This record gives sequence, structure tokens and C-alpha cells, in this order.
Amino acid sequence: MSARGSPRIEALFAQPVAAAELLGEGDPQVLFNAERGGQQRWARKRVLEFAAGRQCAHEALRRLGVAPVPLLARPDRRPEWPPGIIGSISHCRGFSTAVVARTGVLRSLGVDVERAGAVEPELWPRILTPTEQQWLQAQPAGAQRLLASIVFSAKESFYKCQYGVTERFLEFGQAQARLDELPRDDASCAVEVSSADVTLAGRCLLVGDWVCTAFGWPA
Ligand SMILES: CC(C)(COP(=O)(O)OP(=O)(O)OC[C@H]1O[C@@H](n2cnc3c(N)ncnc32)[C@H](O)[C@@H]1OP(=O)(O)O)[C@@H](O)C(=O)NCCC(=O)NCCS
Repeated sequence: MSARGSPRIEALFAQPVAAAELLGEGDPQVLFNAERGGQQRWARKRVLEFAAGRQCAHEALRRLGVAPVPLLARPDRRPEWPPGIIGSISHCRGFSTAVVARTGVLRSLGVDVERAGAVEPELWPRILTPTEQQWLQAQPAGAQRLLASIVFSAKESFYKCQYGVTERFLEFGQAQARLDELPRDDASCAVEVSSADVTLAGRCLLVGDWVCTAFGWPA
């Protein structure tokens, strides 16, 4: 499959960013040779998700007016973006996305995609703080699994965004998410996440079977 521009993910940001999405499996053949190096020991699933993420990143760069270049992985696994560019990649089976922006527009950004409702209740105590668990228990029973996956995704995209500035690892218990409204199929909703360093305002969008969350650290 090939990646296409994603106005709906771009709309999650107040600032000018470029986003692309890919529904389906990635195609490793269309990557740069340099990007395909070192994958001999990877499982097929990893090869395909890596390809889908890189295809989205290349398309997002094109939308920003920047010619795609090989996006190699840094030792901490972040992609090495071209000079003057920041960005973020996320892949989930069947749906991948990447968002890029020029430095100066935002200090950092993070995006994450998860399958809606896929976070099992057994995992909730590991990924939700006591305050988040209390909030979740007060929500309609039928919505709790979806909401748990949104909080999980928000913490992942917040993590990627904050890492771009702080380069600090965070446990799930070190970030607190707040969701004051529920997302509807046709509209994104606000989500806020705080750590000891920063509080960031982000947005969440339901995309078919997936939830997508996005955060930007203002310049
Ligand atoms: C890095 C991490 C957030 C990725 O999330 P994920 O849901 O597993 O996977 P996604 O597909 O959404 O994202 C993977 C992409 O994130 C990017 N990435 C990896 N490490 C990153 C980092 N430190 N900062 C920013 N982006 C990173 C990469 O582009 C990677 O894809 P690639 O390896 O194909 O290039 C996750 O693996 C992790 O390390 N989590 C621990 C930290 C955490 O989540 N703490 C709790 C939240 S506060």
C-alpha cells in the first residue's frame, strides 16, 4: 500500500504540520536502501510496520515541500529527521501515520495510533494512575475500554513529544492524562497530559477501528 496525505491528522494541530497515513500493510520495497539495512533478523511484522511508518514519513515530508531522504534510526530509536525538521511516527497493525513540521513551528511533536479498545482491563493498573483509574470507573461501562485505549495512546504520544525536548524516559505512572469530553466519530476531542516537566494540550481522533492522539510542544 502507499501512504497518502492526511488532512484529518494535520487538523489535530493548531500549527502548520504535514501528515500522512497508510491504511493496510507497508511495502519495504519502496524504502531507501539505507533504511532497509540491518533488518535481516527482524520478524516480518516488524519489517512491514517499519516500512509503513517510513512511507508515511516520506509522504509527510513531500507535503511539507521537503524531498524525502533516508530516515535512519538514532540509538534511542527516534528517527533522524533532516535538518530543520521535527516529526513523529506511529504504526499499529492496519493503520500507520507520520507527522512532520519545520523547527520553529513547534519544539517537538508526538503522534500515536492504537487499536480502539485493545487495552485489556488487566493492564489498566499498570498504565493508569490511581486518579485515572478512579475517573475511568466513573465513566459508562460500555465506554471504559475505548477510554482506556485513548489514555494509553495519549501517554505514548505525549511521551514521544516530551522526549524530543527532555530526552527523558517516563514510566506510565509519571504522566497524568485528563479527558474532559468524549470523542465522537466525526470530531476530535481535547486531551491533556502532564509530567513533572510540562503540561501539554493534545487532541484525540477516532479513525475507524483506531484511536489516534497527537501532541505538540509549543515553540
Ligand atoms: C517509544 C514508544 C513510545 C513507541 O510507542 P509504540 O506504541 O510501542 O509504537 P509506535 O508504533 O506508536 O511508535 C514507534 C515509533 O516511535 C518512534 N520512537 C521510538 N522511540 C522514540 C522516542 N524515544 N521518542 C520519540 N519517538 C520514538 C520510532 O519512529 C518508532 O518507529 P520505528 O522504530 O519504526 O521508527 C514505546 O515503545 C516506549 O518506549 N514506551 C515507553 C515509554 C512510555 O510509553 N512511557 C509511558 C508514557 S508517559
